[in-house]
Amino acid sequence: MPKRLTEYADCAGCASKLDAALLAELTVDLPISDDPRVLVDFRTSDDAGVYRWSNGSALVQTVDFFTPIVDDPYDFGQIAAANALSDVYAMGGQPRTALAVTTLPKNGPSAEVIREVFRGGADKLREAGVALLGGHTVTDPEVKFGYSITGEVHPDRILSNATARVGDLLVLTKPLGTGIIVRARRFGQGTTEFLDAAVESMKYLNDQAAAAAGRLNPGDVSACTDVTGFGLAGHATEIAKASGVTLEIRASDLPTLPGSLALAQEFLPCGGRANLRFYTGFVASASVPPEWNLICQDPQTSGGLLMAVRPEQATRLVDDLTATGVHATVIGRVADPWVEGSPLVRLL
Ligand code: CO
Ligand code: CO
Repeated sequence: MPKRLTEYADCAGCASKLDAALLAELTVDLPISDDPRVLVDFRTSDDAGVYRWSNGSALVQTVDFFTPIVDDPYDFGQIAAANALSDVYAMGGQPRTALAVTTLPKNGPSAEVIREVFRGGADKLREAGVALLGGHTVTDPEVKFGYSITGEVHPDRILSNATARVGDLLVLTKPLGTGIIVRARRFGQGTTEFLDAAVESMKYLNDQAAAAAGRLNPGDVSACTDVTGFGLAGHATEIAKASGVTLEIRASDLPTLPGSLALAQEFLPCGGRANLRFYTGFVASASVPPEWNLICQDPQTSGGLLMAVRPEQATRLVDDLTATGVHATVIGRVADPWVEGSPLVRLL
């Protein structure tokens, strides 16, 4: 009986991301570039870096790879690609090229299985109109796979984490709960239908969500990120912190994957516990049932875009996206400028 793909890793998918506290400690004294062509770098915890070329357009670069989130190698490849591409969409950019990043154990999955992972990734890149240029492979105790993606963006259309505007509504473009569903299935809990819905959601590109945002007027979307390993709580906190604002999220408006709420208490991944400890600026009010708070902490793999949108445009954006099959919802608003000592994000 060959090992299942998820047995080649300790922690599945984006839940394998290093926890935010340790990351902050490790990067605290990294030198910062004084090149004026650097438009976005790691200081704002943004999704991707942006660098202005001399012709006026700008380069968007990101890298994302992780351990197998599902046993089906073709699905895993597609999810890894959709997840890596998402950081370019989250910056308002158009992805163009990809380099694969792979680690494989010496006695790892068969060549056949690995080829299926690669094929899933390549098919997803093709769907996004992205050219695979090459990649790099090393041996490692765990299977890991993903891509470095290069894209382009007009400097006036960069969507940052750091510019959320008070009064804007928050739009989320995918349901939450992928981490919980995947972990529950590893322990034989939840149904295959739950897992199938989670896999469909993780494979789904954020290209249409980004394109719809791009059809609005420049400035209508004041901030954007994609919801991944730090969960809605973490990524919302990053927006609030970087923008100097507070966010308000209504639990009853949160879209969730079937089964995820009921499984949240028992199957929140380890990364979700870390988010809960680290993002203390995310505060759930006493009236919110605890499983809604846990859903917000759940590390998402290839989650949706979280956007702050001018209120007049937000409903139009949601309608526009719903018509194209994107699961978009208004989940809250940018409430006030942040003041010292107050929560960054309130879950009501
Ligand atoms: Co991201
Ligand atoms: Co990322």
